[in-house]
Amino acid sequence: MSNPTHPPAVGVLDQGPELTFPPGFLWGAATAAYQIEGAAAEGGRTPSIWDTFSHTEGRVVSGHTGDVACDHYHRMPDDVRLMAELGLKSYRFSVSWPRVQPGGTGGVNQEGLDFYRRLVDELLANGIEPWLTLYHWDLPQPLEDAGGWPVRDTAGRFADYASLVADAVGDRVKYWTTLNEPWCSAFLGYGSGAHAPGRSDGADSVRAGHHLMLGHGLAVQALRAKLPQAQLGVTVNLYPVTPASDEPGDVDAARRIDGLANRFFLDPLLRGSYPADLTADLAEVTDFGHVRDGDLEIISTPLDLVGINYYSRHVVAAPVAGEEPDKYWRAPSCWPGSEDVRFVTRGVPVTDMDWEIDAPGLVETLRRVHEEYTDLPLYVTENGSAFVDTVQDGRVDDVDRLAYFDAHLRASHEAIAAGVPLRGYFAWSLMDNFEWAWGYTKRFGMIWIDYDTQARIPKSSARWYAEVIRRNGLAAQ
Ligand code: FCB
Repeated sequence: MSNPTHPPAVGVLDQGPELTFPPGFLWGAATAAYQIEGAAAEGGRTPSIWDTFSHTEGRVVSGHTGDVACDHYHRMPDDVRLMAELGLKSYRFSVSWPRVQPGGTGGVNQEGLDFYRRLVDELLANGIEPWLTLYHWDLPQPLEDAGGWPVRDTAGRFADYASLVADAVGDRVKYWTTLNEPWCSAFLGYGSGAHAPGRSDGADSVRAGHHLMLGHGLAVQALRAKLPQAQLGVTVNLYPVTPASDEPGDVDAARRIDGLANRFFLDPLLRGSYPADLTADLAEVTDFGHVRDGDLEIISTPLDLVGINYYSRHVVAAPVAGEEPDKYWRAPSCWPGSEDVRFVTRGVPVTDMDWEIDAPGLVETLRRVHEEYTDLPLYVTENGSAFVDTVQDGRVDDVDRLAYFDAHLRASHEAIAAGVPLRGYFAWSLMDNFEWAWGYTKRFGMIWIDYDTQARIPKSSARWYAEVIRRNGLAAQ
């Protein structure tokens, strides 16, 4: 594994034999609607929970909002041209629910759908496979006003919305993922309140997680009925969870956090059940009375692929009497029932998010999903890093980000060599964008955005990635 603090120079691909990926490996980059589109009040779009949240004082760093973002709504053809220049084989984007179905119920907004029709056409004309995510966190505000994801009805609304998007672009989009990272929607949105809608209630966060997965299952059924040829899946964000020591207390803390972070979603989606230890851990929080007969069958409706977002590892330890627990991702808690678990930092290199850089964790994660859960094709639907970038002489030489990608692609290759059916990799992100509660203060892009002028500058990592794609591989080390 390469050392992330010592990135290879751009051009290293010219040295030595290559680490080749399987033919047809789907090289992509990802974005999300609210993070890049802007045009928040144009073309018939109405507010989502992220508009409300970002316009509420104190919720997002520096009061940043997605009102303008990267202005992608107006610059889409130019952005697709940049993707084509990178040689992307696929582009993962999300549809803004309130842009295509204002209010989240009832009729469609053709003007909103037209934007995605044009995007899909533009991608196909440039030989780029569209990869459509239905829900990247922008719930129409009226659905939140009616109770949001903790309420069962929202699941049905999501399936209706999935149907209308299928009607509009189903003939041209092969790859569909329903939800992006339901853990974040449920536990940051309704648990810690660090994300929209900013509510903090343990039981509601667990209910939200269930109804998100129910909405996913219903949407898969609706899409399957309309689009028998489509490749359908879901994207979950997974973390290896490691105990800080072999002490039983630390090992148990790791079991608990693994339950909430990973198995809360993997087990219902891929096995049709909640893990018994997880429901026992949550007994003080909820009796799971919101789970109805038949829900888990719907949630585990067969899929064609699983999308995995990977960023880092959690290292955890048992609570220490008298010591304040870490205020992880802002109190009260995105870990209901396990608030007192301590998250430990190991002193290894971190990104600008303070997330530890841990490429071997990607191998572990991919192997675990394949070996413990499913034979389905897997895709890394997000992986990337924030670093502080500077423009010098019109260039952005993002060596740390480049090294992060390099290390994680080597990890991806290692997983494939170990037998994981990994079929593609999407860099997060195509361009700098609105990083949720961090606003524009964190940059994840391979393309630099000047938010004053909306100028785009492909960084060194973008030029390097283009070369990786062109060669379908990396140099061996
Ligand atoms: C993921 C999100 C994505 C982006 C990255 C950094 O959790 O899916 O939108 O914010 O993190």
